Amino acid sequence: MTGWQNHPFEIKAKAGETIAFCMCGKSKNGPYCDGSHKGSGIVPTVITYDEETIIHACGCQQSKNRPFCDGTHKNLK
Ligand code: FES
Repeated sequence: MTGWQNHPFEIKAKAGETIAFCMCGKSKNGPYCDGSHKGSGIVPTVITYDEETIIHACGCQQSKNRPFCDGTHKNLK
């Protein structure tokens, strides 16, 4: 587990695994929710994967398709 970074996180979700992705940007364990959103009015995106899935989660917090990478990080300076 790590913090935020300027490239995507590749995550392998197991079948049946539920992942809560940080959407507030305050998590110290990005891209995962650590509860830091409480009181902000922003909630995590929670997804349960039916089958093993490779996820490219946004690490730069700039994607327009968060919690997933949309390639925006390639244009960051
Ligand atoms: S890491 Fe790719 S858009 Fe954020």
